[in-house]
Amino acid sequence: MDRARIVDRLLIDADRERRDVVEALLAPAARVSPKYFYDEMGCALYGAICRLAEYYPTRTEMALFEANRGEIAKAVGAGRQFVDLGAGDSRKGQGWIPFLAPSRYVAVDIAAHEIEVSLARIATDFPALELVGLATDFTHALDLEGVLDGSPALFFYPGSSIGNFTPTQAVGFLSRIRGHCSARPGSGLLIGVDGKKDKAVLDAAYDDALGVTAAFNLNVLRHLNVRYGFDFDVAAFRHVGFYDEALGRIEMHLEAKRETIVHLDGLERVFRAGERIHTENSCKYHPGEFEALLREAGFATIRRWDAPAGGYFVFHAA
Ligand code: AVJ
Repeated sequence: MDRARIVDRLLIDADRERRDVVEALLAPAARVSPKYFYDEMGCALYGAICRLAEYYPTRTEMALFEANRGEIAKAVGAGRQFVDLGAGDSRKGQGWIPFLAPSRYVAVDIAAHEIEVSLARIATDFPALELVGLATDFTHALDLEGVLDGSPALFFYPGSSIGNFTPTQAVGFLSRIRGHCSARPGSGLLIGVDGKKDKAVLDAAYDDALGVTAAFNLNVLRHLNVRYGFDFDVAAFRHVGFYDEALGRIEMHLEAKRETIVHLDGLERVFRAGERIHTENSCKYHPGEFEALLREAGFATIRRWDAPAGGYFVFHAA
């Protein structure tokens, strides 16, 4: 299935990426960017997470969309260029095609393989729709040159992935989207945001009984071993995932169970027993807090829908 045009901007900064990864692991407070979760194994594990009883965001957002399709479609407008940010398997985005009749569908994700598979599926269901895949890390910049034209666009950022940014970083990211919107009058952003809620519910969502989230988190070390030739002893680490009520965010870490050594491009990094690698933040927002971020980013017209079950929000911002 060759109908989709794939634009790959992942290799542009490969050397810098590698240096960044090593530097972050050598830092006194070691960290790995959550973007390294999503190799093929990681995408499969994330798909499994979305099916867990404890992990409510995906099905809560889907129920919100289903309950408000018509109203949301009317607010965002039909015939836009649909930009699916962090498209993954593109199932959420695909659900909007019959309601929004986009002029083209652009799937943007760091997981190039995932985009190819999902666009091939969309191509069979919507043979007349122009499909573009953009493989890129859009957390630092979002280069849409040669991908979008000057007509209005709808940026779609579901799943509460915005939570991976700190609030300050989120404003930066939202401002860049806002820039792409103002360059194309009639454009907007449709974004899903997870709400602050009971700590027990949040803790379980990120540390499930089956251990799928643990596997997803640990897989980042296996992925880095394969990708960069590191020699992490994956079995020497354990998953830690919890809600920090003061910071209003989930934190995920990998904690060394015993002293363990990894070689990173010829440099040695020792992890003492109990030492952690910070792998993810997932910030949770009161609706008013998030609306303030959207306004700070320059969006002036904001509408919100609440999930039937509560605790999850979708905003349209223009
Ligand atoms: C894909 C970033 C929305 O933060 O809930 C799921 C990733 N991490 N379980 C989230 C994730 C652990 C997820 N996002």
